[in-house]
Amino acid sequence: MKQRLERAEQALHDATATRGNTFYPHFHLAPPAGWMNDPNGLIYHQGLYHAFYQHHPFSENWGPMHWGHATSKDMVNWQHQPVALAPGEAFDRDGCFSGSAVDDNGLLCLIYTGHVWLNGEGNDSAIREVQCLATSEDGIHFTKQGEVLTPPDNIMHFRDPKVWRENGFWWMVIGARDASDCGQVLLYKGNSLRDWTLDRVLAKADDLTGYMWECPDFFPLGDQHILMCSPQGIQAQGYDYQNLFQSGCLRGTWRPGQDFEVQEGFTELDHGHDFYAPQSFTAADGRRVVIAWMDMWESVMPSKAEGWAGCMTLPRELTVRDGKVCMAPVDEVRTLRREHHPLAPCELKNSVLRVVENAQTQEILTQWDLSASDAECFGVKLGDGVSVFVDTQAQRLSLRRDFPEHGISGNRSIALPLNNVLHLQIFIDSSSVEVFVNQGEATLSSRIYPQPGERALSLFAEKGQATILQGDTWRLSAG
Ligand code: FRU
Repeated sequence: MKQRLERAEQALHDATATRGNTFYPHFHLAPPAGWMNDPNGLIYHQGLYHAFYQHHPFSENWGPMHWGHATSKDMVNWQHQPVALAPGEAFDRDGCFSGSAVDDNGLLCLIYTGHVWLNGEGNDSAIREVQCLATSEDGIHFTKQGEVLTPPDNIMHFRDPKVWRENGFWWMVIGARDASDCGQVLLYKGNSLRDWTLDRVLAKADDLTGYMWECPDFFPLGDQHILMCSPQGIQAQGYDYQNLFQSGCLRGTWRPGQDFEVQEGFTELDHGHDFYAPQSFTAADGRRVVIAWMDMWESVMPSKAEGWAGCMTLPRELTVRDGKVCMAPVDEVRTLRREHHPLAPCELKNSVLRVVENAQTQEILTQWDLSASDAECFGVKLGDGVSVFVDTQAQRLSLRRDFPEHGISGNRSIALPLNNVLHLQIFIDSSSVEVFVNQGEATLSSRIYPQPGERALSLFAEKGQATILQGDTWRLSAG
């Protein structure tokens, strides 16, 4: 693997020097150059956070998957590290697909899917997928240990292992597609990271909930268990399931050796255009934190013209509040705050209030009094291309993006929360917007592609009045 890694490093080094920057994020993790998809192997290990990711160092398009690697002391400022895994052995010839990381007696271990095309690249109906192990003593250089688990009979799509330790055993969930093309999650139990037995089918899709469940994750939250996964093949329904593929949670109870008793079926986790393959880990102090790929398969990705594609969401703390799964930015995100501008309480009537002339990297917090707002449409906008607004007639909160020059337009929305006060926390980076509603009760995350000079940040109210109780905005900067 050493030579392949050296070639990858050289290619990245050259491509990073010529990479364009207009859309390159300032405070989100993105590849130094080339392609990125799913977060992999998120872990806090020996005082550092590690984020690995699906990576193609040789091009801005998806290709033979490597594992990129970055480390951080705070989940917010990331340092790129050398590429950790390169495909090419018999068991991972065509890709080191997604997986997870664990600490096994001080060794940093990566468990990932070795992917092989049996009948030509891209032919999904003839593949070999097995789970593989790689280990590291220094947390930077990894040695492959080969394959450790092959699929059960009749299963070919078998990938994205998430491993944890509990009750004196190793446990692993794997995404799979059964013989009748229904998605499912398989649960394995291990005496070691090399010795696994199938425990049970932990959960499976019905006719409506997808033909393949990718990137499963299974963990306790409050007094329940969450099965997070990314199903392929759910049809759009009303305002729901609008993206090509979905990511969300099932909620229930579980104990080792028992079935997962589902109390709430699959529910989407984020409502923007770009959120996929979320994975969780425990922070140094035990918080459950989620990071997702802030993109969607087959979307137009204008950053490819700059020699890179893909970025991660901000890290988000997952909690259950009033029986609802909530996702709010981790507290560490506050360390990005620089110049502060408070916004005085005000009423807007058929007007626009300019807040920041050129919002490159900005956080804006606003509280709106819904009981004192009758405007048909009001909210926050960035240039003409992005707005986060209340549609009073439809009683929905929408995120709209409109970049016809890239063929990217459209809305995503949620039902307007019933509280009198609407709390909106919005993070703007070079090519992303993340909206946190009422302290994480709902989130909407999308990639955006404004031209330079198209980044004025404003509050607005159309056809009536909107009342802002309070507001704050900060320029954000990493480092
Ligand atoms: C999810 C996914 C995974 C797979 C990886 C390949 O986005 O399709 O199932 O392991 O991406 O890059």
